[in-house]
Amino acid sequence: MIRIAIISAEPSSVSGFAMLIPDPYQCVPIALRDDGPEITPPSDIDVAIIDAGNRCVERTLAMTASVVTAHPTILCSTNQHDEQIVRAVHGGVFDYLVKPFTQERLRRAVEAAATVAAASAAQLPPASSSGFVGESRAARQVGYFIQQCTVDDSPVLLTGETGTGKELVARLVHGASSRATRPFVACNCAAVPETLFETELFGSERGAFTDAVTREGLFERAAGGTLFLDEIGDMSPANQVKLLRAIEDREITRVGGRLSRSVDCRIVCSTNRDLKNMTADDRFRKDLFFRIGVLIHTIAPLRNRASDIPLLVHHCLTESGDSERRFTPSAMQRLMTYPWPGNFRELRNVVHRSRLTARGRTITARDLQF
Ligand SMILES: Nc1ncnc2c1ncn2[C@@H]1O[C@H](COP(=O)(O)OP(=O)(O)OP(=O)(O)O)[C@@H](O)[C@H]1O
Ligand SMILES: [Mg+2]
Repeated sequence: MIRIAIISAEPSSVSGFAMLIPDPYQCVPIALRDDGPEITPPSDIDVAIIDAGNRCVERTLAMTASVVTAHPTILCSTNQHDEQIVRAVHGGVFDYLVKPFTQERLRRAVEAAATVAAASAAQLPPASSSGFVGESRAARQVGYFIQQCTVDDSPVLLTGETGTGKELVARLVHGASSRATRPFVACNCAAVPETLFETELFGSERGAFTDAVTREGLFERAAGGTLFLDEIGDMSPANQVKLLRAIEDREITRVGGRLSRSVDCRIVCSTNRDLKNMTADDRFRKDLFFRIGVLIHTIAPLRNRASDIPLLVHHCLTESGDSERRFTPSAMQRLMTYPWPGNFRELRNVVHRSRLTARGRTITARDLQF
């Protein structure tokens, strides 16, 4: 299924495009707000349509610049000034439609853009070569992202729904980096009690508090390697300040200690929350967000990369030594149309349960238990 982002400030425009764009295309609305942040390109769309309406084309393009770079983009506006058109095309816009346009003109533009999108996705190697199973455009972009992360030690921020593979990608980033032979240390920020955060991350010196022993914190344990801060969106504001200081100074002091120690670990964070949104109402510190969010990738949910499901199912069967088993076409179709709120983790459970239920070599739609 080709997914087309409709980027517009007006809800009515989205429904208008949805009516004009026939199957097999799927429209994905993205709201454009003047006071909103610049739009980041979702990895699970193929083509973008930006409806500038009566707005200034240049301002609209500035707000959507990274979308235009990442996807073949069709710009629509009521503006007919040649100069703006020339600039838009110069800025990388794939096609430009002046309103009013016919449905046929739109269809041709979308078809051409979809062809270009498919060709550009095919240039990326299948993500599986990176360890992230999948061949969809979104999965290939994960593979490409992992490669980009090897260029230097910049902090990485991974976002995405539960079970999409954030921790897996964090481990793959570490494994592909020059730090691969050094430790990968994971910390689930949501599980560390508020009061123990500092000792957990920075360590403690004997006598710092009752029962305190001399202990390395996670920063020190990750020396030379990668510190993975999972569920970073759940960190309290007080701890965010402490973390920011450690990252900025590249130095920590153990609780109860006086010596400051320099730390050398790459920071990889993950969250299923929308951190950018959280910075808008101060639930997450902006300075920390900019510090940790240098290389950002949002892993697409499974329902938006259904073409990966047969490969992922095969991966689950192989994992459990059952690679001879096959799902019937109708069972596979059900797997490919189910919305997977728990993403890969849920898919793996369903595959395992069905394996146990099914008697023969083939697993039918009736054997599936969601
Ligand atoms: N594309 C994939 N290829 C292979 N394994 C995958 C893929 N996606 C997810 N997995 C596996 O699914 C499981 C869940 O992934 P992971 O723990 O990385 O998800 P997560 O995004 O961190 O989830 P949560 O937000 O719930 O912590 C792991 O065992 C992981 O190895
Ligand atoms: Mg996780």
